[in-house]
Amino acid sequence: MSHTILIRNAQIVTMNALEEIIQGDLLIKDDRIEAIGHNLDATGVDRVIDATGRTVIPGFIQTHIHLCQTLFRGKGDDLELLDWLRKRIWPLEAAHDEESLYYSAMLGIGELLQSGTTTIVDMETVHHTDSAFQAIAKSGIRAISGKVMMDRKGGDIPLPLQEETSASLQESVDLLEKWHGHDNGRIRYAFSPRFVISCTDELLREVARLSAQYNVNVHTHASENQGEIELVEQMTGMRNIEYLDHIGLATDRLILAHCIWLNDNEKRIIRERGVHVSHCPGSNLKLASGIADVPEMLDTSISVSLGADGAPCNNNLDMFNEMRLAALIHKPEHGPTAMNARSVFRMATIGGARAVGMEQEIGSLEVGKKADLAILNLNQFHTFPSFDVDPISRIVYSATRGDVETTIADGRILMDRGVMLTVDKEI
Ligand code: GUN
Ligand code: FE
Repeated sequence: MSHTILIRNAQIVTMNALEEIIQGDLLIKDDRIEAIGHNLDATGVDRVIDATGRTVIPGFIQTHIHLCQTLFRGKGDDLELLDWLRKRIWPLEAAHDEESLYYSAMLGIGELLQSGTTTIVDMETVHHTDSAFQAIAKSGIRAISGKVMMDRKGGDIPLPLQEETSASLQESVDLLEKWHGHDNGRIRYAFSPRFVISCTDELLREVARLSAQYNVNVHTHASENQGEIELVEQMTGMRNIEYLDHIGLATDRLILAHCIWLNDNEKRIIRERGVHVSHCPGSNLKLASGIADVPEMLDTSISVSLGADGAPCNNNLDMFNEMRLAALIHKPEHGPTAMNARSVFRMATIGGARAVGMEQEIGSLEVGKKADLAILNLNQFHTFPSFDVDPISRIVYSATRGDVETTIADGRILMDRGVMLTVDKEI
């Protein structure tokens, strides 16, 4: 059944090519933005939202999330990456069952919607990924998700997480065939090899082939930690990104979380192949991984977007935190404008759309695009009302998830004043 929603009298942060900010109305018809203008006709509209004094922004796009880890928050708060994985995260992922994974995913999605995120690129664990897709389907969030792949034997990977290569590939393809394109294209599949040190050559080569065959993203971690890149060099004789390129994975379908420890040749590969970097500043600080040189990446036209990573990597899934950290951490070294509010907000919106190959569909508020947006109330005790503050600066440096009133994805209201409204979809 067709439906319409009119958001009236709002400040609309479009993030279109001119980055226009418009005072006016936005009309949603079904899953898309039908019109943006002044005094749009409300006759026959199903729902009118009076947004006087409110700010409408494109929904945030987080390009690196682990919904399966939401329930592990607070476990291993003071560990570095490899110890954190071995001592805490892998045993906890191995202990998941269908039900615990479903609730972990739903809890995470609730937090994401409450803080204005409408699209995620998500990596699950080895087993029970179907449960995460069920939660994604019911919640209405836009997601590109996949089961994690870990077929290399040994190391400290718990036995229940060690897979056979052929089973890992077959289960991934089965999930892809079940979920990719589900609900009007809202749900998509991404092959998700965890990182080089948990995967065989054979698996990674096959993932490269399958991602081209199905035209889907590949989502992995790379060059996050110095211990990790040393292990990759011992195993492959190559630098991490050089090895991914050698395997055939370095294409514009590849999303690489972290990318902190890169040499010049690795940066060149990322830039020339159109690989997308997902910057996770909260996680990079908390796991003592390092500081990715994002100002340099942006200066050299590398595609960078943002993600919170799993809840136990930084203790929340809130894009407002990630944006603020992304802006702040470079100021001492690079000066006050290197990561200005607009470039950070671009990474959080249109930059994420580019990473998932959907810049024609999401990431900005324009007629014909998907209606994925958040309505914010930015009037709470910030400055004198008549003072002129750039709303993007206000959002990046001061807004919190408490300022989000309503979150809409694919034209549906999914969160309204803290209440989650799930969609009933045949699964
Ligand atoms: N590298 C391999 N697995 C993980 C994970 O679950 N989280 C993070 N942050 N890095 C990883
Ligand atoms: Fe991660």
